[in-house]
Amino acid sequence: MTRYTGKNKVKTAIFVSGSGTNLKNLIKFSKKINSPISINLVISNNLKSKGFLFAKKNKISTVFYNFNNDKNYEILLSKLIELNIKLICLAGFMKIIPKNFLKNFKGKILNIHPSLLPKYKGLNTHGRALKNKEKYVGCTVHFVNNKLDSGKIIIQKKTRLFKKDTISTIKKRVLKLEHKIYPIAIKKILL
Ligand code: GRF
Repeated sequence: MTRYTGKNKVKTAIFVSGSGTNLKNLIKFSKKINSPISINLVISNNLKSKGFLFAKKNKISTVFYNFNNDKNYEILLSKLIELNIKLICLAGFMKIIPKNFLKNFKGKILNIHPSLLPKYKGLNTHGRALKNKEKYVGCTVHFVNNKLDSGKIIIQKKTRLFKKDTISTIKKRVLKLEHKIYPIAIKKILL
């Protein structure tokens, strides 16, 4: 079994757009002795992202990137290569990953999605589940491929949907599950 200690840990970049609770959780996880990853870079398309600001405050290298200009992807890619990044974790990242990233990091990009995929790809997952009176809601960690929320599933976790649930109660409950399964998924693929 590979031992991931100190410098041996898999250098990881996190892509974030919003509140960054998954990012914070992964940073905490990376500091554990049995964690196979170190967080070496945080990339965001949103300068005001709480996750991005948290990374800055915690002295993790950060790069702001708007993801609107195809030509500049090469610059970002070279930064990842320079830092020897071997794993990319999308954590609430609201942009489409450029094709050349997929090519260079084949099988190395993970995403967390707040639904029980293949159900409810895309946005407003909880609202749609609620409307359809689903029995369960949940979340999925999956590999990223060139189709939205469609790569191979690594792990899922579900929770009951109750009559009194609202989008916000579901969001809260599912987010807790997300924080549980993202580290498990990482261990599953690396250990
Ligand atoms: C999470 O629900 C994640 O599954 C989705 O966006 C949300 C991000 O939350 N892709 P946070 O930024 O990690 O708090």
